[in-house]
Amino acid sequence: MHHAAKWPAIFERMVVRMRGRGNLGELMHEMMAGVEAPTTAEAEILLAYLRKYSQRPLDPNKYPAVNLPEGQSFKLACRQCHVLPDPQRHKASEWPAVVARMEKNMQWMNRVVSNQPDSREIQLKVEEINAFLVKYARKG
Ligand code: HEC
Repeated sequence: MHHAAKWPAIFERMVVRMRGRGNLGELMHEMMAGVEAPTTAEAEILLAYLRKYSQRPLDPNKYPAVNLPEGQSFKLACRQCHVLPDPQRHKASEWPAVVARMEKNMQWMNRVVSNQPDSREIQLKVEEINAFLVKYARKG
């Protein structure tokens, strides 16, 4: 979900929790139900993995269209939980399924839900988002 630069701080916070020294203290440790927190060596491997397969952020210099009307729906909807993803991460044929999964992530987080219009929230315009991503997607 997150870009490489963001992972170390999140990871560190979670490992501290797993060790029972986070903001929920021992309770969090008990929720681990006997699963051990990673050792320092294991933590290094896990963090390297997360950074290697992390979100690739969109470079606005490469995609000036993100700041034009055609990029607005994508920009508003897709930067709420993580950095805007690079459209080249997926092929045109792959993007609609990713966007559909994000819709579920959004419902889960009770944020932008297209079938329950709420004037205070950004509406998810799936067609416009897919049009943008498909246009700038990775070729082949
Ligand atoms: C409600 C929070 C949320 C929003 C809003 C959101 N995402 Fe995500 N995104 C996630 C989570 C959680 C993951 C990691 C789990 C997963 O891949 O489903 C993720 C992972 C990703 C990934 C990496 C995984 C992959 O399949 O490549 C991409 C790309 C992505 N999101 C694109 C988008 C796009 C495009 C939008 C806008 C339509 C969007 N996200 C909006 C929560 C969100």
